[in-house]
Amino acid sequence: MASLNDIRTTFLDYFSDKGHAALPSSSLVPRNDPTLMFVNAGMVQFKNLFTGIERRDYSTAVTSQKCVRAGGKHNDLDNVGYTARHHTFFEMLGNFSFGDYFKENAIPYAWNLLTQEFGLPKDKLLVTVYHDDDVAADLWKKVAGLPDEKIIRIATDDNFWSMGATGPCGPCSEIFYDHGPSVAGGPPGSPDEDGDRFIEIWNLVFMQFEQFADGSRADLPRPSIDTGMGLERIGAVLQGKHDNYDTDLMRALIEASAHVTNADPDGPGNVHHRVIADHLRSTSFLIADGVLPSNEGRGYVLRRIMRRAMRHAHQLGTKDPVMHRLVPALVTQMGAAFPELSRAQALVEETLLAEETRFRTTLDRGLRLLDEELAGLPEDAVLPGETAFRLYDTYGFPLDLTQDALREKSRSVDVEGFETAMAEQKRKARAAWAGSGETADETIWFDIADRVGPTEFLGYDSETAEGQIAALVVDGKETTEAGAGTPVQIVLNQTPFYAESGGQVGDTGNIRVEGGLVEVTDVRKKAGVFVHIGTVTEGSVKPDSSAQLMVDHDRRQMIRANHSATHLMHEALRQALGDHVAQRGSLVAPDRLRFDFTHTKAMTPAELSQVEAEVNAFIRQDGQVNTRIMTPNDAQKLGARALFGEKYGDEVRVVSMGSQDGSGIGSDGRTYSLELCGGTHVGRTGEIGLFKLLSEAASSGGVRRIEAVTGSAAIDHVAQAEAVLNEAAGLLKAPPAEITGRLRALLDERRSQTQEIADLRRKLAMAGGDGAGGSEPEDVNGTAFLAQVLSGVPGKDLRGLIDEHKAKIGSGVILLIADTDGRVAVAAGVTDDLTSKVSAVDIVRAAASATGGKGGGGRPDMAQGGGQDASKAPEAIEAARALL
Ligand code: ALA
Repeated sequence: MASLNDIRTTFLDYFSDKGHAALPSSSLVPRNDPTLMFVNAGMVQFKNLFTGIERRDYSTAVTSQKCVRAGGKHNDLDNVGYTARHHTFFEMLGNFSFGDYFKENAIPYAWNLLTQEFGLPKDKLLVTVYHDDDVAADLWKKVAGLPDEKIIRIATDDNFWSMGATGPCGPCSEIFYDHGPSVAGGPPGSPDEDGDRFIEIWNLVFMQFEQFADGSRADLPRPSIDTGMGLERIGAVLQGKHDNYDTDLMRALIEASAHVTNADPDGPGNVHHRVIADHLRSTSFLIADGVLPSNEGRGYVLRRIMRRAMRHAHQLGTKDPVMHRLVPALVTQMGAAFPELSRAQALVEETLLAEETRFRTTLDRGLRLLDEELAGLPEDAVLPGETAFRLYDTYGFPLDLTQDALREKSRSVDVEGFETAMAEQKRKARAAWAGSGETADETIWFDIADRVGPTEFLGYDSETAEGQIAALVVDGKETTEAGAGTPVQIVLNQTPFYAESGGQVGDTGNIRVEGGLVEVTDVRKKAGVFVHIGTVTEGSVKPDSSAQLMVDHDRRQMIRANHSATHLMHEALRQALGDHVAQRGSLVAPDRLRFDFTHTKAMTPAELSQVEAEVNAFIRQDGQVNTRIMTPNDAQKLGARALFGEKYGDEVRVVSMGSQDGSGIGSDGRTYSLELCGGTHVGRTGEIGLFKLLSEAASSGGVRRIEAVTGSAAIDHVAQAEAVLNEAAGLLKAPPAEITGRLRALLDERRSQTQEIADLRRKLAMAGGDGAGGSEPEDVNGTAFLAQVLSGVPGKDLRGLIDEHKAKIGSGVILLIADTDGRVAVAAGVTDDLTSKVSAVDIVRAAASATGGKGGGGRPDMAQGGGQDASKAPEAIEAARALL
C-alpha cells in the first residue's frame, strides 16, 4: 500500500520528470495577499506569475502546498472531527503552467497519472467541465475515451474557479471517483450530489482571466494551468478507505493520540482523537511558519484551534497537557517532506505545552460553569450570549470552542447576544480611554481602531507584504484621497512595518498602490493601530485599496543587528559588573545603539574590553535567536529580564540568544541572554557582524550611558581608527605595531632632555643668569647682595639655586626672579649670620609687590612668592636693596 508520503513523492516526481520545477510549499502565512488569512490553495504563491506581474526562471511548477482552512472565508474548523473529509490542515498537490501548456497537456497529464501511475480503474472515474467548454469536453473524450455521460457539463460556479473577489480565474474541470453503488449519493450536478458516493479528487483550473474589483475581467497574458488535488483524499482512494482519517498518516496520529491519552482509538472517544490529530497538524505547521498564539488576527485563529484540541484532550480524561507529546509522532510522519517542521520541533512543543498548561487552569472551571448554566436552562433553550461571553472573557473559551462543546449536547449559543456583550465591553474600555487624558486629536485613532481592529504585525518574518488600506488621515481627519505632496497617515489591516516601541525606532520604506506611491518616514502605534507616517510622492492614494508594503531592508537589517547586540551587551554588562545592572533606557536606531543602565562608577578599560569581547564571542558563535510567547510569570520563572515598572499583558514575547547549542530556552542555564522584547532581531547572532563600543559616560545620578555600533558602522569605526593609526605610524616612520614603543622612547627622550635643559639653565644661572643682576654680589651697606633675573628656570628650582649661591658667597642676601612660561617667581635667601638683621620673607614681599605680585612667605633664611610683571625686575631688585 502506498503511504501518503509515497503518493506525494510519486506526484512530485511525475511532474518534475515532465520538466516542472519541484518547489517547496510556501509558508502558510500569505505574503502577497492581504485579503487571505492563510494559504488555502497551491496557486497562492504563484498569483503574480499568472497575472504576468512577475517572472521567474521556470514556466511550469509542481508543489505539495500546506493549506489551512480555519478562520477567514474558508473555515472548516467546526466540522473537523465529525466528517470524513474536513481538515483544518491539508496538503494540496498541484501542477502549474504559467503560460506554458494549457488544457491539451493538463488533461492527459492528469489522466495518465491517475490511471497509469496510481493505477485507478478508468471506469471508476468521471469528470465535469464548465458548460460551454467544448474544448475540454472533446479532450476528455479523446484522451480518456470517456463516454458523454461521464463528461458532465456544469453551468454553475462549481466549475468556474476564482481565487477570490479579484485575481486570476477560469473555467475548471473536476475529476471524480465513484465509490460504487453501495454508498449513497448521485453524480455531480444531480440532486443528491452531496452524498458520499462520488468524491471530487482533482480540480484542473484553466486560468484564462483576471477578475477586477469593478466587476470587469481581462484575458491573462497567456492561458495557464492551476490544479489542486487533496493529498488526504487521493490517499484515501488509493488506500481503499472511505475516510481520510483512516489513511496511514492520519491513523498514525490518531494512534499516537490514543497512546498518550490512554484511550481506545476506535472507542467512543474516536471523534476526540480525530480532532486532536487534525489540530495537531494545523497548529504545529502554523507555529513552524511563525504564527504564535495571541488574541488577535492569525494568532487568535491558532489559539482557537489549539484550545479546541485541548478541550477534546480534556474530554478524554487527561489531567496533564498532552498535545506537545504528540509532536514527535507528527515529525516522524511529516518532518522529511517539510524540514521546517523538524527545525521548529522544540518551538512547537514549548508553545503547545505553555498554551495547554495555561488553558488547563481555567478549562475545568469553565466547563463546570457551562454545565451548571445548561442545567438551569430548559431542554431546548440556547445558551445566553452573556454566558458565552463570560466563558470567553474570564475562562479563555473562544466562541467556537463553546459551540463545539454544546454540539455534543445538541445545544447552541445565542451568537448575537455574545456579540452584543463583546461590543458592550469594547464601549466600556473606550470610555475608560477617553478619561485617560488622551488629547482630542488623538481620539481619531480610537475611532479607527474600533472600526478596523488592531493592526497585525507581519514584520517579525517579513519585510514586504500586501496590506489593505483601512484608513487614510490627512491633517487629523479621515479622507478619501490624497495627492502627490500631501503628508499622510495610513492605517492598514496588516503590515511588515515596525512601529516605534521599546526603544526601537519605527521602520521607513514605501507603500505602493495602483497609481500612487507613499514614502514612509516613521511608524507609530496609536490605540493599537500602526500609523504609517509619510508623504505621497507619486500619483495619489485612496482607502480600501490593496497596497504593496516594502520596508527599507538595509535600514531594518542594521536596526535588527543593533537590537540583538543590545541584548547581548545587556547580559555582558551584568556579567562584568554584577546583578545590579538594570536597563534604564535604550535607543535602537539604524546607525547606533544607546543603552542606559544602573551603575555608580565609570567602567574601567578592562571592564569595557571584557564586555566588548564577550558580545563579539557570542556574535561569532552565530547561534539562532529564538522567540517564544509565554505568560509573564513563566518568563520570570525562566529568568527573563524584564523592565522594572513596565506593565506587561497576559503574554509576553521572550527573545533568547547565545545558548550553547542554539536549541533555545532552557531552564538549565544554557541560554545566555533572555529578555522580554517586542522588537525585531537577527535570525542568527552572526548577522550582527561586529560590535564596537564608542563611549561610556555618566548619564544621570547612578546611571551610565553606553553608545556602540555594529556591523558596517563598527567596521567604519575600526577603519577610521586604523587611518589615524596609520597616519601616526607615517609621522613616526614606524610600522603601526611599533608605534607605542616609539612613543615611549620619544617621551623618555623628552623627559631626559627637559632635565638636561633645566640643568643647563641652572648652570647658566650660577654663571650669572641672562638678565638684570650679575654673577657677583655687590656690597650694600656692608652686606653682600646678589640679585639675578633668570628666564626658563622653573620656580621649583629656585630654592636649590639659593642654597648653591649661599654656599658660594658664605655670607649675604640673595634675590632670584625667574620668568618662566609667563609666570614670575620670586625667591630670597639670607645666610644664617644675617637673619637677625634682615628676613628673607621681607625681601620676597618687597620684591614681589614691586612686580605687581602679592604676598610671599617662608622662613627668615628662605622665602618664596609670586610676581606679576617681569619687566619690573629692576624695581624689585631696588626694593630689596632698600631693605639692607
Ligand atoms: N486552485 C484550485 C483549487 O483550489 C486548484 O481547487
